[in-house]
Amino acid sequence: MELAIQTFNLLKKFNNIKAVNNINLSIKKGQLFSLLGPNGAGKTTTINMLCCLLKPTSGTAIIMGYDILKEPFKIKELIGVSPQETFYQNTLTVGKI
Ligand SMILES: Nc1ncnc2c1ncn2[C@@H]1O[C@H](COP(=O)(O)OP(=O)(O)OP(=O)(O)O)[C@@H](O)[C@H]1O
Ligand SMILES: [Mg+2]
Repeated sequence: MELAIQTFNLLKKFNNIKAVNNINLSIKKGQLFSLLGPNGAGKTTTINMLCCLLKPTSGTAIIMGYDILKEPFKIKELIGVSPQETFYQNTLTVGKI
């Protein structure tokens, strides 16, 4: 089984707030995966750590074989993220974006 994303006790604290509490995910290549939760559940914080925009307090993740703590630049070359605020022209293909 080839994994695209694997997290190991991924945890993020902001002062006393545990925004992400020890999550362990295994997501296969080609798998469509939805991360659902109420406001403040920690979705954006999780995505920001997986995109290497935010360092975890503890734990780590492997994206396409690369550790977010050790090889963030390799990961940034491989992934694309479209956050909820982004607007793309609907005439553009994924390749053009
Ligand atoms: N930079 C920050 N500094 C302090 N606390 C933060 C910061 N970012 C997020 N938090 C807190 O961490 C928790 C998780 O927030 P996060 O934004 O990850 O949730 P979310 O699931 O994306 O919510 P939403 O559905 O509203 O987008 C919340 O309690 C939030 O207030
Ligand atoms: Mg969010």
